[in-house]
Amino acid sequence: MIGRAIDNLGERLWGRDRYRRKYYKLAKRIAAIKGFEVYKPHLVWLTDEEFVAAREKTERRGIEGGPNDRCYTLLAAARSVRDIPGDFAECGVRFGKSSRFLLSGAGEQSAKRLFIFDSFEGLSDPGADDAMSGGGAAWVKGDLAVPEEIVRRNLSDFGDRAVLYKGWIPDRFGEVEAGRFSLVHVDVDLYEPTMAAVEFFYPRVNPGGVILCDDYGSADCPGAKKAIDEFFADKPENVIGLTSGQSLVIKR
Ligand SMILES: C[S@@+](CC[C@H](N)C(=O)[O-])C[C@H]1O[C@@H](n2cnc3c(N)ncnc32)[C@H](O)[C@@H]1O
Repeated sequence: MIGRAIDNLGERLWGRDRYRRKYYKLAKRIAAIKGFEVYKPHLVWLTDEEFVAAREKTERRGIEGGPNDRCYTLLAAARSVRDIPGDFAECGVRFGKSSRFLLSGAGEQSAKRLFIFDSFEGLSDPGADDAMSGGGAAWVKGDLAVPEEIVRRNLSDFGDRAVLYKGWIPDRFGEVEAGRFSLVHVDVDLYEPTMAAVEFFYPRVNPGGVILCDDYGSADCPGAKKAIDEFFADKPENVIGLTSGQSLVIKR
């Protein structure tokens, strides 16, 4: 209420654009005190129609998950492969927020399905490769668990385009062995399931398709970066680390 009133007053005094820029400068100064960044108001992705629509639907359903920049990367990546044959796969779904941006990015009329692999019992056991520089892992077994029924409900508006495989990675990968993919999203936080996911899906991604890893640039997930770097060390593709913390590979 108070925020809306200040907004209206600011717009009246200075006009919408000038007011937004002043507001941005103030927010930037406050954020900088603790070394945070705020998104620049002129970034066009913030007002991308498909992104805004997908975000609003997700917010209306109260679905928690990653920040706007990561969600936009997923939507933009999914949009970029509309003409590449193959379904989508996601390893690690939590509440289904990332899945929603992937399915939305494919387009409303798309027949592409999203095959989702998750334990629905949270993370597996972290190993030695998941230890942070200061000592132990940021995670323990079972963290981030969300029951399957909640994810089904959160993705219900996509109908049978979202296909759920409950189990520990890689136990159920064999069920999509014959599949071909245009996009794979890996978001399981740990070394072992990240490695298992890229080992299985990489050969099944069509040229021009993309492989995204959510955790590549996260200080909490050193094992995920290690798995991606090790796996792609002898592959022709380069791993691009994004400012959002994700990594992106475009299959040759
Ligand atoms: C960070 S969350 C995924 C977040 C989701 N992609 C999003 O952005 O909204 C990690 C997920 O990976 C799953 N997970 C972690 N390790 C797993 C494993 N070894 N096998 C199956 N699922 C696993 C967890 O259950 C959890 O749902």
